[in-house]
Amino acid sequence: MNIDILLTGGTLPNGQTADIAIQGDRIAAIAPEITADPETVGEIIDISGDLVSPPFVDPHFHMDATLSHGLPRINTSGTLLEGIALWGELKPLLTEETVLDRALTYCDWAVSMGLLAIRSHVDTSDETALVGVRALLEARERVKPYLDLQLVAFPQDGFFRAPKAKDITLQALDMGVDVVGGIPHFERTMEDGRRSVTELCEIAAERGLLVDMHCDETDDPMSRHIEQLTYETQRLGLQGRVTGSHLTSMHSMDTYYVSKLLPLIAEAQVSAIANPLINITIQGRHDTYPKRRGMTRVPEMLAQGIRVAWGQDCVLDPWYPLGTADMLDVAFMGVHVAQMTSPAALRQGFEMATTAPAAILGLTDLGLAVGKRASLVVLDAADPIEALRLRPDRLLVVSKGKVVARKERRDTDLALPGRPASVNRRRPRR
Ligand code: FE2
Repeated sequence: MNIDILLTGGTLPNGQTADIAIQGDRIAAIAPEITADPETVGEIIDISGDLVSPPFVDPHFHMDATLSHGLPRINTSGTLLEGIALWGELKPLLTEETVLDRALTYCDWAVSMGLLAIRSHVDTSDETALVGVRALLEARERVKPYLDLQLVAFPQDGFFRAPKAKDITLQALDMGVDVVGGIPHFERTMEDGRRSVTELCEIAAERGLLVDMHCDETDDPMSRHIEQLTYETQRLGLQGRVTGSHLTSMHSMDTYYVSKLLPLIAEAQVSAIANPLINITIQGRHDTYPKRRGMTRVPEMLAQGIRVAWGQDCVLDPWYPLGTADMLDVAFMGVHVAQMTSPAALRQGFEMATTAPAAILGLTDLGLAVGKRASLVVLDAADPIEALRLRPDRLLVVSKGKVVARKERRDTDLALPGRPASVNRRRPRR
């Protein structure tokens, strides 16, 4: 058979060694050894001993705000609420060109890290936010050949609290934004928050769209909009199409109540997204000590069979002064905060940055299997646990059958008496 790219000797996430043949934009074969006449192969790439994985997927991001850190000023308190106020100061200053330029730059970073699908919320609170909507719709088209960008209509200033949010949110959906979002904990009252969940889920049901709501991103143990979200999911028959993002109030909730809540989330097949880098830096800001860490109850949800993924949320924006587009940074923080340190939990922590978020986005075409889309990443690591430990270089990134990023392996030269001339940090083989 004619093969466009043949990857030889890679280690799959399950530990098996395999060759992978790519034809066009599809994975044509995966086998312990694929023999082919070199004349019929476009390129043979030796990846012996390196981990080959499905691409990273970020299910929760804010691309309209990314790379704007310091504009027009810095968030001095570090809180969510000052970040929202700061974003309100920045929005009138945005132009389509600058938002598009920053979005495309971020997507370059993402591709270099093997991050090939991103769900980004885009503010739909008022007319000024439409600049971001138009810019990200354009970005979605520009990156389509190599990156899946899914957009969520997100009335950041409150669906009811901001006077024009409902009109602008509907307008954004009419313009082609993919998913319905919300922010019930930021509405004026608990009751308004509850009503916003109901109305936004009804909009999604009428239009046949997915839902992804910022839900209970607060330290208030009584913020319980996730309960309403599961209720509306069941009432409207949206099972499997709804996601609750953040859910940080669950960190502080009464444990007895959580024992009732988790089966409701599981029953409604609502997915959950934790954003560990942001949760750990934004939550608990009003505490003295002990200081709550804020991240939702990840291992407990996994134990209930709830689909849970890690999200990046922010990179260099009004809420977060760091970030690199590396989902392994996110997963690394996540497994620490969630205390997921057994071998099985670490492997699950890796999947929460690859296959689990792909399922949340509905990207059924991603995965290392014959017939699936030829999108993958090769890492300078032996297995998923070593990848988490090292957060290593991405040696090769293939998207839709094309090599889109390469990086040379480079050990560190040493000048030590009686020691080797170079070193890397991979675990020595026994
Ligand atoms: Fe967010």
